[in-house]
Amino acid sequence: MNKIKLIYEGKAKKVYETDDPTLAIFEYKDSLTAFNAKKKDSLQGKGRLTNLISATFFELLQSKNIPTHFVKLLDDNHQLVKKLKIIPLEVVVRNVSTGSLCKRLGVREGLNLDPPLVEFYLKNDELGDPLVTEDHIRAFSFASKAQVERMKQLSIKVNEILSEFLLERGIKLVDFKLEFGTDDDGNVYLADEISPDTCRFWDLSSSERLDKDRFRKDLGNVLEAYEEIWRRIRE
Ligand code: ADP
Ligand code: TMP
Ligand code: ASP
Repeated sequence: MNKIKLIYEGKAKKVYETDDPTLAIFEYKDSLTAFNAKKKDSLQGKGRLTNLISATFFELLQSKNIPTHFVKLLDDNHQLVKKLKIIPLEVVVRNVSTGSLCKRLGVREGLNLDPPLVEFYLKNDELGDPLVTEDHIRAFSFASKAQVERMKQLSIKVNEILSEFLLERGIKLVDFKLEFGTDDDGNVYLADEISPDTCRFWDLSSSERLDKDRFRKDLGNVLEAYEEIWRRIRE
């Protein structure tokens, strides 16, 4: 499978057309951004790690019957995926309070959230990806009622599968962001990526941050944290 044409270049990946119109190639980049790209850097080797980590999580989810866009890993920085129409929502699942949740509601960091919180954000960089309610989603047709229900159901299942897998490797899955897309027949698939760029991972015993918060908060050793996640999840 060959890259034919660049369709889109985002903050973390390049997306290419292939000779099969139903498939796309993702190239994971070394760039690192936060706060809607107001903070930027590049870390040599980061793209390889997010590509390999994301592929591992998607393979696991696929094996547990979650429908995903993942087709196969091509090399260190590339993977083949189903080309989908992305639903313009980011679904965030939270097991522990931190990040924007604490800022928005003034609640303490580190509270256990049981059952987990599922939130929807509108995927719109210009607006800073605002939080939206299901009524907003319906009123402005960002997604159908059935798609919202399906995204929620799949997100909760993804949380259960990944939380258990990571716990066995000494990692607490604190929160994460998912994206979904549809194929020409309207089937919903899990899309985009799952990596330390899109999740918060805390070491179970020390609560050390093993994710992009190391970059967001200038904690240092960003690449080392991504390497540590890869070390713990690879076979
Ligand atoms: P951003 O657009 O936020 O800068 P990325 O750099 O990760 O993000 O770019 C990847 C883009 O590809 C995102 O816009 C994402 O929604 C989109 N995408 C994810 N999965 C698929 C897919 N299976 N088919 C088509 N587009 C996808
Ligand atoms: P938040 O606490 O900043 O809202 O982030 C919640 C989770 O979503 C966290 O794991 C990081 C992830 N996330 C993204 O992947 N992309 C984003 O644009 C944002 C804001 C968060
Ligand atoms: N993903 C967003 C960005 O790259 C925000 C974040 O993850 O903090 O700017």
